[in-house]
Amino acid sequence: MNAGNLKALVFDAYGTIYDVASVFQRCEHHFPGHGKAISELWRVKQLEYTWLRTLMGRYENFERLTEDGLRHTCRALSLELSDAVLRDLMSEYFKLATYSEVPAALERLAAKMPLAILSNGSPAMLQKVTEHNGLTDRFQAILSVDGLKIFKPSPRVYESAVNRLGIAKEAIGFVSSNYWDAVGAKAYGFYVLWINRFKRVQDELGVAPDQEVFTMNQIADWVEAGT
Ligand code: LAC
Repeated sequence: MNAGNLKALVFDAYGTIYDVASVFQRCEHHFPGHGKAISELWRVKQLEYTWLRTLMGRYENFERLTEDGLRHTCRALSLELSDAVLRDLMSEYFKLATYSEVPAALERLAAKMPLAILSNGSPAMLQKVTEHNGLTDRFQAILSVDGLKIFKPSPRVYESAVNRLGIAKEAIGFVSSNYWDAVGAKAYGFYVLWINRFKRVQDELGVAPDQEVFTMNQIADWVEAGT
């Protein structure tokens, strides 16, 4: 595939643009010695709850599930979570840092084709974190699953981006660092670029991304070479 065949790039948000591990320091501040364990289990539970609630047909938005994941994490690690600390840690999600190469890579990509975000995040979370990082102008659309009341990797979510952007799925490049999201997008029919930031091994799901890269800069190189 030549990048010249693509008409837009659609990005996952958390773990791809925004570094969810950047909550680590704030967790460490409130719970010295536990920051890593909290931030890791918190992310696992946040995602697990999206899939479980989708299967149960009991949608609640991502902000609520993020909060629920934190409550569970602290209980599981026998740490007392006051309301004030919960509020403080939740507020970190609105100001997550990007991965270091992301702002410059997005600038290069936005010069070549329209960019959008398609995320499980709630609209308010996505808007705030994108504004906080000064990236709002980079994206033609910031799309949330919230209107559909189901989470990725449901094909209905990926399809909603096709409908909103008015671009055929074959002409959309989808970028995610989350392997489950990359293969969900591939199963739906996007051209998929997996940023393997965490040096993970592919899951056995009978479908694989089209390209594996390690930073967003490689996607910018590929797009610039083909357009
Ligand atoms: C996102 C998370 C789940 O959809 O990575 O942005």
